[in-house]
Amino acid sequence: MKKIIIGNWKLNLDHLEAIQLLQKINYSLPKNIEDKIEIVLSPSFTSIRSLQTVISSDKLKIKLSSQNVSQFASGAYTGEVSASQLKKLEIDYAIVGHSERRTLFNEVDSEINIKVNKLIDSDIVPIFCFGESTEERKNGSYLTFIENQINEGLKGLRKDKVKKLIVAYEPIWAIGTGEVASLEDIVDVLDYVKNIISKKPFFNNDIIKFIYGGSVSPDNAKSILNLSIVDGALVGGASLDAIKFVDIIKAVEL
Ligand code: PGA
Repeated sequence: MKKIIIGNWKLNLDHLEAIQLLQKINYSLPKNIEDKIEIVLSPSFTSIRSLQTVISSDKLKIKLSSQNVSQFASGAYTGEVSASQLKKLEIDYAIVGHSERRTLFNEVDSEINIKVNKLIDSDIVPIFCFGESTEERKNGSYLTFIENQINEGLKGLRKDKVKKLIVAYEPIWAIGTGEVASLEDIVDVLDYVKNIISKKPFFNNDIIKFIYGGSVSPDNAKSILNLSIVDGALVGGASLDAIKFVDIIKAVEL
């Protein structure tokens, strides 16, 4: 399966800086690597249109993701951005249920589930994030916690509608901390989650990617990305540095 590397720029860069970083990343990529590895950038809403214009005029093969989407389709919801608005901007992916949305903005599983469904209806691939906190990891309840996030977040998805899905294990204790999960932790959790998802009616091995996120860097990328169960990475901090991000991409053994 083609691996995927997603750069989550979070709340960083204005649209001019975002264009510069896109161009630097594109310039540093090995020739035609996008045919073998899916490369996705997830900028702020304010940069999406600018990046999309550069991508389409320069015919780049880099794809775009949003960092969030509204659970609503339209109407009196000040500050929200809908899936259909994103689709018009030729967005292919959207991150949903990131732990920063869950913990800082109180997003709950039921809301995340609506967002996943809205994205699928708009033909945008959800990058569905899940993962436990230090507390659940320490008290040993993390697998039950994760199972619940998966069951609630991916509830009711229909086989005839799900064309692609990215499922991202992002342990909260590993995000932005420099403390990367061990290879054993990553394999254990992804194995566990794959087993749960393989029983769902929408499951199809060819369309679901299982990825890891949390302090991925050029130093640890090779060992993580070449695990057979890992189909890619969601990269935060290191994706703001073109050289580091491209080094992560180059760590994938082709
Ligand atoms: P990080 O962030 O790579 O900076 O740990 C990952 C993420 O939040 O997706």
